[in-house]
Amino acid sequence: MTVRELSLTSPGLFHSPHPVLHTLREIDPVHWSEEFSSWLLLRYDDVADALRSEALSPTGMTRRIEHLSPSAQRSLEELRRSVEQWMGLPRIEDHKRYAKLLRPRFSPREIGRLEPYIRESADSLLLDIARRGGGDVVTEFAYPYSASVIAHTIGLPPEDRSMLIDWSQAISEVFHVSDFPALQDAQRAVEETAEYLHRVIEARRREPRDDLVSLFLEGMRTGLILDEDEIVANLIMMVAVGFETTSNVIATGTFLLLESAGQWCRLLNDRSLVPRAVEEVVRYDGPVFITTRVAKAEMVLGSKHVKAGDTVLIAVAAANRDPSVFADPDEFVIDRADNRHLGFGTGPYSCLGAQLARLEVRIAFEQMLSRMPDISLARSPEWQEFRPLARWLSHLWVEC
Ligand code: HEM
Repeated sequence: MTVRELSLTSPGLFHSPHPVLHTLREIDPVHWSEEFSSWLLLRYDDVADALRSEALSPTGMTRRIEHLSPSAQRSLEELRRSVEQWMGLPRIEDHKRYAKLLRPRFSPREIGRLEPYIRESADSLLLDIARRGGGDVVTEFAYPYSASVIAHTIGLPPEDRSMLIDWSQAISEVFHVSDFPALQDAQRAVEETAEYLHRVIEARRREPRDDLVSLFLEGMRTGLILDEDEIVANLIMMVAVGFETTSNVIATGTFLLLESAGQWCRLLNDRSLVPRAVEEVVRYDGPVFITTRVAKAEMVLGSKHVKAGDTVLIAVAAANRDPSVFADPDEFVIDRADNRHLGFGTGPYSCLGAQLARLEVRIAFEQMLSRMPDISLARSPEWQEFRPLARWLSHLWVEC
């Protein structure tokens, strides 16, 4: 097969992208994709270097808006203004301010303090499903569970979680190659979330608590945060990135464990394998398939000449299946040792919420093993597709 014959947009590819990505990695690892007018990186080392590189800027997300007509761009101004302030996307100096404020709060020790709340949230939802003899792991467990945890971490009441789920799903369209109507929905959700958050911030000014809203207000006092708009934008980002990713890993992980013979029983017999199983789900089928960067200046990637302003698609999912790093990369091995996957990124923009996500997914699996040991798939699951290449579970029905 030649590079020209390989299409990254053929309809069936969502369900099985890896054979094409393996071929591409072998014959053209730094690939110019005409379909996406972007470079695509596929080798583990190239992906890791690109994620760490300060010569590549993570501003690629707002590019989708820049490609629209001038009037469409004007109508999405609020969305763009918010996204440009998100941690991970502003200028490197602004990113450093946010990181200084937030990273200590997301350390393993600080996140560990949330364990009792997280376990209780998982348990009450799972008990409900177990009493009914089954249900949908995505909508009845993973979504409300992850939404409650991120709401609790930010400092929002758990009863607002269904509102947060709707907003998060609309806003996270900015991570995908979305069309104009989807971006308009994202903008509407950003406006509604901002209005809601301004009220929460006002309440916390009067009465601080041990939560992220109060931490951001403290950041404003010490000069790390410049104004309330920065607080609101970054809380919106937490809602957008902190919920769907984690619920996706819980759902996909449950599917993988139940689909492949004997994996669930192995965990039942030896629960010390759960942390490794969590890492393997993120490696094998993690929620971040591709992340985007823009070249700040002319540079060489692999042997290819990249121009300033070129978009670079970093295929984290392809790196996580690179056979030069992972033995049997297409096998789901729940006790894989030395699993150096890049599913949480690496370098200055690596995942802020990695410890929180790991804890949430581990507790989800542990409580499922306790509350529904006899769980099995009730029927074929449903998937939702996102351009380019990613697919997430939208329904996963189980019996228990
Ligand atoms: C299993 C679940 C998750 C996965 C697989 C995941 C994955 C990632 C990846 C790959 C990146 C790097 C993106 C890049 O370099 O362009 C990232 C960044 C980020 N993630 Fe996550 N994430 C998860 C959960 C969370 C949660 C729960 C939060 C909530 C706090 C979160 C907050 C962030 C933030 C703020 C960044 C940007 C960090 C920075 O620029 O310094 N993530 N995540």
